[in-house]
Amino acid sequence: MKVPDIIIAVDGYSSTGKSTFAKLIAKEFDFLYLDSGALYRGVTLFARERKLISADNVIDPALEGALASLDLHFGKEGTFMGERCIEKDIRTLEVSSQVSPIAAVPYVRAFVDAKLREFGEKGRIVMDGRDIGTTVFPDAQVKVFMTASEQVRAQRRYDEMVAKGETPAFEDVLANLRERDYIDSHRETSPLRRAADAFELDNSDMSLTEEIAWIRGLIQGKFGIL
Ligand code: CDP
Repeated sequence: MKVPDIIIAVDGYSSTGKSTFAKLIAKEFDFLYLDSGALYRGVTLFARERKLISADNVIDPALEGALASLDLHFGKEGTFMGERCIEKDIRTLEVSSQVSPIAAVPYVRAFVDAKLREFGEKGRIVMDGRDIGTTVFPDAQVKVFMTASEQVRAQRRYDEMVAKGETPAFEDVLANLRERDYIDSHRETSPLRRAADAFELDNSDMSLTEEIAWIRGLIQGKFGIL
């Protein structure tokens, strides 16, 4: 199946499996996968290392000017800050716990949006996030909005943490998920919401094979290809 040079936007709630699905799409159709959340995490790491965010999430306004010197991009091994691979550093619990307040700041969103649009210029990309189909690429030819039941999402995140050797309480995982979704859906700038022309994918009871069959069908129908 020869898919045209389009942009595929994958948005949705926490732990719906957006990045797993987007990576699979990239492999299946030979697209470039871009993880928008990694850039918000990169800005968070930068703010932490420059001491521009306090432990209780007070953000120093100097962050805005400092961003001019921040070179974030994607390389072979993942996310880079200049020459330095930061893929591991941006996935720590410390960064995860401060990324949402950082991602709610309008000038941070403008900074990340500009980079994402630059990376997406050539097309043939699949990008996942919270506002790709609504704000970053409102003209994306294929938009997916992922959902799954809260119980299923909390169970996935719980299993992920247990696999990493952590011992969280299920109720805490569920509460954290609800809180992050609430913050992401209620912030003023580019809140998480389904674009009017996005196709909803509830993968509560779906396998990855079924998810790929679903997107293949969608693309075939849309572009009249086999
Ligand atoms: O993997 P997970 O869904 O937990 O998060 P992520 O995709 O790595 O994104 C980290 C955080 O960045 C999210 O919790 C959002 O607050 C924010 N984000 C955003 O605001 N807009 C995006 N397009 C992507 C991420």
